[in-house]
Amino acid sequence: MTTMSTTATSGYGLRDYVASIEGVLARRPANKIIIREVSAATKQLCASDRWLEERHRVGNPDRYTRHLLHRDPQNRFVVLALVWMPGQMTPIHDHSCWGVMGLIQNSLEEVCYDRLDDGKRADYAEIEQSRGTDVGQGGVAYLLPPYEEIHRIGNTSDKPTISLHVYGRDLDEVNVFDPVSGKVSPMRIKYYSPECGKEPFVI
Ligand SMILES: [Fe+2]
Repeated sequence: MTTMSTTATSGYGLRDYVASIEGVLARRPANKIIIREVSAATKQLCASDRWLEERHRVGNPDRYTRHLLHRDPQNRFVVLALVWMPGQMTPIHDHSCWGVMGLIQNSLEEVCYDRLDDGKRADYAEIEQSRGTDVGQGGVAYLLPPYEEIHRIGNTSDKPTISLHVYGRDLDEVNVFDPVSGKVSPMRIKYYSPECGKEPFVI
């Protein structure tokens, strides 16, 4: 991901945001243009948190929580709010799609990796850390396959963080990378659903 900044506007909510993304995708542009335009819309949405419902701000002391906010009926994208308690972070993973992240509350650290091998083996990858960035409140970052999409993100602060994520597919599985052994493993990821009762439905 790479940071990006644009002008923010108030009064813009989740429904407006979804309509903006639908408008971008309707033109079937290249991923690079999707990233640029969805980043601008994400910046606008993250300028305020008034639109985010209380039930989508619920975290879990054991692991970060993925709240599904919108799933495109045509399956072109999903919008999520992620809640991170202090110290919670992802493993190193990829996405196999474009993605944009915006910070609604507090900040996240993102560490990016380059893949050094030829990518021909599904279960092995040689990766190297390329850079680490702190994305602050209102900040936006993106994923652009095939070269800018392996990373790990986490809350290294002492306060809860809420971030907004939009992905170019229903992101229910990712590859997880072990930087020491080189092993690549598929991992199923799920959404929190209040209907699941006391146990959040997450990984
Ligand atoms: Fe990610």
